[in-house]
Amino acid sequence: MAEKKKTIGILTSGGDAPGMNAAIRGVCRKALLNGWRVVGIQRGYSGLLNEEMFEMDKHSVSDIIERGGTILGTARCPEMRTEEGQKQAADICNAHGIDTLCVIGGDGSYRGALALSRRGINAIGLPGTIDLDIACTDYTIGFDTAINTAMEAIDKVRDTSSSHERCSIIEVMGRNAGYIALWCGIANGAEDILLPEKYDYDEQRIVDNIINNRKHGKRHHIIINAEGIGHSTSMARRIEAATGIETRATILGYMQRGGSPTCKDRFYGSVMGAYAADIAAAGKKNRVIAFKHGEVVDFDIEEALAMTKSIPEYQYQISIALSR
Ligand code: ADP
Ligand code: F6P
Repeated sequence: MAEKKKTIGILTSGGDAPGMNAAIRGVCRKALLNGWRVVGIQRGYSGLLNEEMFEMDKHSVSDIIERGGTILGTARCPEMRTEEGQKQAADICNAHGIDTLCVIGGDGSYRGALALSRRGINAIGLPGTIDLDIACTDYTIGFDTAINTAMEAIDKVRDTSSSHERCSIIEVMGRNAGYIALWCGIANGAEDILLPEKYDYDEQRIVDNIINNRKHGKRHHIIINAEGIGHSTSMARRIEAATGIETRATILGYMQRGGSPTCKDRFYGSVMGAYAADIAAAGKKNRVIAFKHGEVVDFDIEEALAMTKSIPEYQYQISIALSR
């Protein structure tokens, strides 16, 4: 008798990220090549709990690699944080014959995957977030597109800021993490870079910096502020009052999360997606995929979630040194 086909389910969860579609495509096509059945689950864990799923074939992922967002849709799902929600989700996976669930998202989504793994579902996490804040990996799918989108926007704000000899506070995404702010701060040559992990709330230092730069003939002053610090509009009002220099706030917002993925996000999405399908086929259980020291690798999901990471100190020091 022919052996029953194994089934891999794919869902995207948490904030969407450019390159998630490449990852979906990578998992789907490689799993099919490995002889697996593939099920797409819509709207993250919410869709799983509502059994919103469909059979995928290789054509289900045609013409998606260049598209931003996620064709599966995503959602935040509070029920998944509860024991009942997790039990129901595991029961639904079993009822639909899903042996392995591939979760593309950030570390919150990984916690949902861990909960399922503890209830006997093989869970595999793929790092999909623009924030770069997953500890076990040097790279997360979506980060490259987001920083390039933000960088181009910041260049544009800088043009008008220089013309009007204004100070600009530009807020970039990153609820708890300053990686987008750090990268854009360095890449855009910002005068001040405020990271949630490092900011000491010393506004007087920023004011002194602006006044000093103006004395030396600088026509603009760009402050990159991370979303985790926020309050850019009130900060602009206070800085304008203290310096006498017109100061405007620009909040870049969701534009950073959308758009066609860069080559790097398509590449890593594809390779990590295929890798997820391959480790599932090799019988590995409860893993998360990561990019470490130039290689795609995998870690135990529980160990991965216990890891920590922080802003690289040298990069932070350089961001300050070059802005002076
Ligand atoms: P991200 O995955 O980008 O970090 P969130 O933190 O919003 O985004 O998490 C996405 C979803 O993952 C949540 O809406 C919830 O369904 C699930 N999730 C988050 N944290 C947990 C947790 N501790 N236990 C179970 N599921 C969780
Ligand atoms: O996906 C990460 C992220 O974009 C964070 O940078 C941001 O704080 C958060 O998601 C915003 O999420 P929401 O879509 O719930 O507003």
